[in-house]
Formats: sequence, structure tokens, C-alpha cells
Amino acid sequence: MIIEHPTERDLLEAAKLLKDGSLVAFPTETVYGLGADADNSNAVQLIFEKKGRPTDHPLIVHVPDVDSVDHFALNVPDFAKTLMAMFWPGPLTLILQKRPDVANAASGHHSTIGLRIPSHPLALELLKLSKKLGVFGVAAPSANRFGHVSPTQAVHVREEFDHDLLILNGGSCQIGIESTIIDCSRDVPVLLRPGQLSVQELEQAIETPIYQQLIDQDPLEDLPTMLSSSAPNASGRLLAHYAPKAKVCLLSPQALGQQLNTYRPKPNELIGIWSQNAFRPSSDQFLCEIMPSDADLCAHELFSTLRDFDKAQVHQIWIEHPPLSPEWQGICDRLKRASSAQ
Ligand code: TXA
Ligand code: MG
Repeated sequence: MIIEHPTERDLLEAAKLLKDGSLVAFPTETVYGLGADADNSNAVQLIFEKKGRPTDHPLIVHVPDVDSVDHFALNVPDFAKTLMAMFWPGPLTLILQKRPDVANAASGHHSTIGLRIPSHPLALELLKLSKKLGVFGVAAPSANRFGHVSPTQAVHVREEFDHDLLILNGGSCQIGIESTIIDCSRDVPVLLRPGQLSVQELEQAIETPIYQQLIDQDPLEDLPTMLSSSAPNASGRLLAHYAPKAKVCLLSPQALGQQLNTYRPKPNELIGIWSQNAFRPSSDQFLCEIMPSDADLCAHELFSTLRDFDKAQVHQIWIEHPPLSPEWQGICDRLKRASSAQ
């Protein structure tokens, strides 16, 4: 059930549901989350069941304020405190050492925990009201089935799950791709998942280099060997993830142009094309959409474009590889994973 324009009363009802061990889907500035009380292992178990996600894949815990960090984390390094002060509320998740006695199911029984304060006003208000009822953090992965495209609109969430799930509608998510994740649980900061906040921006804030441990780079190549224990299983880091139903091909602008000139679609075959270059296709079996040349706008449209192509029942999606500059890193990461799924 979607609650349109949630009022303070609706948010209080949602907070009570969380307190009682039920799930609530809510908007954040990145993507919609499927939330449960992070300290209630039965409620957290419902998230894993609903998503079909392996239970050793840790969830991000959303908190309303920096004071709540101490409830979940220990030994927070200074660089993490700086990141919190500069970028929270916002699209940044920090992996910290976890207190042994909290949120074990939410953290996938790892010794670390991912925390963030989202900036969407509805999310913040829900978290504040929940805390007043004794819910210190809301564990919330993206509100989609395991491996699917993340939802950036309330209707996307409804398409993923049964109709009794309470969904707070907060409009279309401003950023559109998931938070940047920095592992702060080791001696040096490590990027686990790129997002809209770029590594350069974060490095400037902490005046420290951030190592990268992304796909195709496991174990860490450029970290001192004593730090090179690999990061836990984590869904967002699986190569085949964020996938629509149609097969996705990521092509250079030249290769895409060539393929459009030479490919003859089979009868009834539909091909979705998302490119910065405007092509004039030879057949109406090619459905062309323009990819924004601004990275923020492109991130905002990415997942809904993939979903729209699925709705149009295209058989393949051809996507022009975006530029390689830093502001495109999060987008390139999601596209690479979407195209690795089949
Ligand atoms: O933007 C976001 O981060 C969204 C919204 C809802 O806040 N949430 C989200 O959650 O993307 P999810 O569950 O789809 O992604 C969680 C990812 C995991 O795949 C993993 O990469 C990382 O967070 N993560 C969480 N806890 C971790 C931990 N203890 N150690 C390492 N990685 C962790
Ligand atoms: Mg996800």
C-alpha cells in the first residue's frame, strides 16, 4: 500500500510498525529502502526473506543523528568523524567496527556495521520518530528483490513486492543511485562502492588517500598486505547485480553506432538504446532514449530508464559507455554490473 504525501501522523504510524517488528518501505535521497528495526533480528530476517537475499550479506543501518553512531559502532577513527561532519546527512555510508552486542542479524553477523544518515526529509523524520520509540537504527537495503534494479519511485517498490507492504511515497529519489560506501573499519579508508559523492571530494575532505576495493580487484592490490583481508560478501559488490530483465550491452560510442548500422533485428525483436549521441535508427524496432550528458541527471534517470525498457518488453538494451571522468564512476559501476548479469 502506497501512502501518498505522508503526514506526521502517517510517519508516526510507520515508526510504530517498525517498533512492532514490521517492515516499512521509505524514500531516501539515493533509492527507496526496505526498513526494519536494526536491533530486532526477527524483523531483519523478514527483509532477507522478502528480498530473497543471502543472510550473510550485511545491510546498511540508517540513523537520525551522529549521536546514534555510538549505539552501533566502536573505535570510530578521526577520518570517519570528519566524513560524518562534512557529508551527513547525505549519500555516504561508513563501515565501522560494530559493538558486539547489537544488530548482529542486520550486519550479516560480521564484526562491522554500515551506517548512514539519509538526507530525505521523510526518511529523517521517520528515523527521529522511530528513535523516540526506542528504534535506534533502521536497517534498510534497497527495496527491490535480490539482484534487481533498485527502486527510485514508490511505484517501483510496489512492483517488486506484495501489496500489503507499507510504502511511504516521497517522490522520485533525487540522486538515483545508492550511497558511496567507505570502509572505515581498517586503518585506512577504502572505497567499497562508488556513488554520487566522488572519491576526490571525500579525499579532499579528509586529506588522506582513499584506497579502492571494487569489482575485479579482490583481494586489494594496492593496500599494504596486512590490511588485505577481503571485505565481507556484500550484494552491491557482486559483479552481476542491478540487472533489468533484458540483456544489457555496454558499448563504446563508436561500437554502438556501428552496431546500429549493421544489426538487423529479428521479427518482433525490440532493442532499447540509451546514448548521449542521438542516433537515427533504421527501424522502429530500436527504441532510442537520450542519456543526459550531466552525470547527476544521468544517475537520477538510470534505474528508471532500465525499468522503463523492461516495461516496453525490449529484448536487449544497448547502452553507450559514459565518460570515464570521476563524476561518472558510480554510474559506470552500476552499468558494468547490469551488463554482467546475463
Ligand atoms: O543508498 C543506499 O545505500 C541505499 C539506501 C536505501 O540507503 N541502501 C542500499 O543498501 O544500497 P543495500 O543493502 O542494497 O546495499 C548494502 C551494501 C552491501 O551490499 C555492502 O556493499 C554494504 O552495503 N555493506 C553494508 N554493511 C557492510 C559491512 N558491514 N561491511 C561491508 N559492506 C557493507
Ligand atoms: Mg541493493
